[in-house]
Amino acid sequence: MSDRHPAEAYHRWYYDTEVWEGVSFLGVTTNKSVSDMWNYQEILSELRPSLVIEFGTRFGGSALYFSVIGRAINPDLKVLSVDIHHHEVFPRVHEDPAIRLVTNSSTSPEVLEIIRQMRGQNPGRVFFILDSDHSRDHVLAELEQLRRVVESGDYVVVEDGNINGHPVLPGWGEGPTEALEAYFERYPADYVRDEDREAKFGFTFAPSGFLVKP
Ligand SMILES: C[S@@+](CC[C@H](N)C(=O)[O-])C[C@H]1O[C@@H](n2cnc3c(N)ncnc32)[C@H](O)[C@@H]1O
Repeated sequence: MSDRHPAEAYHRWYYDTEVWEGVSFLGVTTNKSVSDMWNYQEILSELRPSLVIEFGTRFGGSALYFSVIGRAINPDLKVLSVDIHHHEVFPRVHEDPAIRLVTNSSTSPEVLEIIRQMRGQNPGRVFFILDSDHSRDHVLAELEQLRRVVESGDYVVVEDGNINGHPVLPGWGEGPTEALEAYFERYPADYVRDEDREAKFGFTFAPSGFLVKP
């Protein structure tokens, strides 16, 4: 998208003035683009998943969002949210009966095993969202590990590919966009990019990161 496109100017303003740092859902902070959140709500409504799996909890606002919206669509939905620590999580998130917090690295074998178990207990489609350590190698390792648990019909969002100059934070270093480039070189047929969703609201924090498992 051209630098002169009004949506890109809005993206830069939204990011550079840290609007995203002050977003909240039911009083719980979440670090997101609000139009991405609306996009996720539309995806969940179509996908009707049994499970949302999030890497990167931080305050828990996004986990709470996926739980509240997801259970309005499927009352049996469960949310797994993984982080290396949970000391910033708001109490309301701890109290939510559908959210399971697991303290570990998203790429650990233990997390892979928990995903397998939760899939077995909650048959159906899964919405995955990768929002933890945004370095290229970590995101690539997450995607590699997910190959063992993602199934046809699942949806995977890789967040924050907008950093490292795509178009925000130039010079940040290789991040999710570079991880996705490396991943698709290795496994070109693993996912189909949902380009209509990606483009729907003019800008997204997850460029190239709306993926459907065929
Ligand atoms: C951008 S924040 C998550 C924001 C949250 N998903 C939201 O939208 O409100 C990134 C989180 O990833 C966590 N993190 C960093 N490295 C990680 C790893 N190896 N595994 C899991 N989480 C990690 C950090 O501790 C931090 O809380």
